[in-house]
Amino acid sequence: LKTIGIVTSGGDAPGMNAAIRAVTRIASYRGFKVLGFERGWEGLISNFVRPLTPRSVSGIIQLGGTILHTTRCPRMETPEGMEKAVDCLASNGVDGLVVIGGDGSFRAALALSERTDTLIVGVPATIDNDVAGTDETIGFDTAVNTAVQEIDKIRDTAISHERIFIVEVMGRKRGFLAAMVGLTVGAEIILVPEVPFKAEKVFNTIKDNAAKGKRSAIIVAAEGIGDTKKLALDIEKNTGLETRLSILGYAQRGGSPTARSRYLAGELGNKAVEIISEENGGQVACLQNGVITSIDLKTTCSMEKPLDLRLLKLADILAT
Ligand code: F6P
Repeated sequence: LKTIGIVTSGGDAPGMNAAIRAVTRIASYRGFKVLGFERGWEGLISNFVRPLTPRSVSGIIQLGGTILHTTRCPRMETPEGMEKAVDCLASNGVDGLVVIGGDGSFRAALALSERTDTLIVGVPATIDNDVAGTDETIGFDTAVNTAVQEIDKIRDTAISHERIFIVEVMGRKRGFLAAMVGLTVGAEIILVPEVPFKAEKVFNTIKDNAAKGKRSAIIVAAEGIGDTKKLALDIEKNTGLETRLSILGYAQRGGSPTARSRYLAGELGNKAVEIISEENGGQVACLQNGVITSIDLKTTCSMEKPLDLRLLKLADILAT
């Protein structure tokens, strides 16, 4: 009997549990034994491992977070940590390891794949959607919807009080989440790290809108743009309009996954097991132009995913 291991690593994302369920059930269906490593890479370094069966992953498709727990694991970047992980895979007889996580997890997965015979396959899951080679990551759609629901509520106060709101969303150094959220809440302004912004331009847009009778605004800002608190103060000073900052924070990372995130978890989990069944490793299951396919782990790690700037342009026109 061959063995597949599963690890969830880095920031949790809604749909990770659906992916654990999918990998476990598809792998069992194909005759693999399944092991779950707990607490991210810590699980491989410290041998925190437990068997997973189709029954033990019941009732988790709708749960946010990850039943395997996760960590950010600096130890995995040390030679000792990496060596322990390699030994752990060997001692547990793991033929294939499915790494469910984002780009940081994939960089560690790539380093691991260069040191072990275990076939390593990534399943992209992060609310940031910043994994190159896949159009979408598990959890992104849920985070977008969570943020949209919150901002729709903030919009009520913005309109009632005729205030300017900066709403800061997550995304680490990238603006995928901010762009999609901004477009779908009808934000007057979207600020992303990929497009350096001029504060003066922000003030002018707000003043022009006020002159047209639009005295409230939602500015969706990616956390990666820098100091949003200062920006809020500067806007108030320069436009004379009451301005507030609302940081959405970790609420965006949790919650029940949307149908879309669950669907992706099922498809990408299935693909990951298929790749291992075909005795391939060093790959990432991904979505490209509506097709579930795979890409080299190395390519994913060496590429920067481009942000579709057309979305920002569209959002601009739609917000006039
Ligand atoms: O990668 C997901 C994410 O939520 C980012 O959007 C954010 O910058 C980061 O994780 C926060 O990391 P931590 O959970 O370590 O505070």
